[in-house]
Amino acid sequence: MKKFKQVVKTFAGLEPVLALELRTLGAESVSIERRAVSFIGDKSMLYKANFLLRTALKVLKPIAQFRVTNKEDLYFHAKNIPWFEYLTLGMSFSIDSTVQSELFVNSMYTSLKVKDAIADAFREKFGKRPSVNQEDPDIRFHVYLMGDYCEIALDSSGESLHKRGYRVVQGEAPINEVLAAGMILLSGWNGDSDFLDPMCGSGTILIEAAMIAKGIPAGIYRKSFGFEKWLDFDEQLFSAIYNADYEKETSVRIFGSDISAQSCANARANIKNTGLAKMIEVDSKDFLELSPPFENGIIVTNPPYGERLQTRSIAGLYKSIGDVLKQKYAGYTAWVISSSEDGFKSIGLKPSKKIELFNGALPCSFRSFELFRGTHKQTVILKKGNIDQANAEEAK
Ligand SMILES: C[S@@+](CC[C@H](N)C(=O)[O-])C[C@H]1O[C@@H](n2cnc3c(N)ncnc32)[C@H](O)[C@@H]1O
Repeated sequence: MKKFKQVVKTFAGLEPVLALELRTLGAESVSIERRAVSFIGDKSMLYKANFLLRTALKVLKPIAQFRVTNKEDLYFHAKNIPWFEYLTLGMSFSIDSTVQSELFVNSMYTSLKVKDAIADAFREKFGKRPSVNQEDPDIRFHVYLMGDYCEIALDSSGESLHKRGYRVVQGEAPINEVLAAGMILLSGWNGDSDFLDPMCGSGTILIEAAMIAKGIPAGIYRKSFGFEKWLDFDEQLFSAIYNADYEKETSVRIFGSDISAQSCANARANIKNTGLAKMIEVDSKDFLELSPPFENGIIVTNPPYGERLQTRSIAGLYKSIGDVLKQKYAGYTAWVISSSEDGFKSIGLKPSKKIELFNGALPCSFRSFELFRGTHKQTVILKKGNIDQANAEEAK
């Protein structure tokens, strides 16, 4: 099968885990870029990347690269692309653009120029042109313009891959599915210990964890992928990839809780839709009152950041989180994502790792806290106790 360059888009900070996912799938020449990872692979890799990658937002197949030195250049080069290989008159298409260039200040204009080039290429050949449909097109094109470098690509994913297809209820401030999966993979967890999200909201982190532990493909609940409408779509090949056996046995326990009963109901509804209800338990509880559901394990959680709470109350909440972790969760490793520097200061624990991520537009830090059994202070007290005991014995 012919190999070609593919570009997978992701969120800032997730590039290394995406590169690892790609290498595990067998991608060649994997190269980390800004909010993207490129690789060389064939059509089966393109299907697998869409269906299996947990940290991918889009998989693009570049079809043309050129330099633009003035506004006319874009139209001129775009018109020379063999559009008829990808698009027929009966199909609809859309164009979206990512632009960072002094030549083109707005991405709408860039999309419009490429749309004109496609329309004119078709009109010259057939006297008619395919229609534009921004909402639900058959074929999506992506224009990337950085300085004077332009790359035009086919978007093989269609709707962004974070739309896994399992969410029936949104809830308040749900974390993006790709970010949730990326955080779990960054933590190094792969189903080898019990898992807790004590502020689970609509259950995204719990569901992504269960899918990782059980080896369930990230795209299994999706109804469609963009490439299924491509003229070269190989149904047999995709069907073989789709129906391959990915699932593994696991006895891992996944537990979620939230202070809001409504959030727990939302989480249960989403979990039910995945068919993973047997693996994931959800209970409505204040984290400060929750009894640890396992002896040890991992916590990955996304507490409130305080955009709606006063700074003092956010500091209070994070202080309580830190106290509870110290008092009740010895033996666990806790990973917390937050944009609140005040919150992290108040947690009162020293992070062993800090990873810079973004939650939407908010710069965040994802930090791990090792909750050892017995603190340094206790060790000293124990030693002193031993000394006292030895002295007492000597005095006998
Ligand atoms: C940012 S949201 C989590 C969103 C979640 N990751 C999702 O994907 O839907 C924070 C959650 O923390 C919960 N929360 C706030 N204080 C809490 C507490 N003391 N104990 C348990 N949950 C709490 C809120 O009810 C809210 O659902």
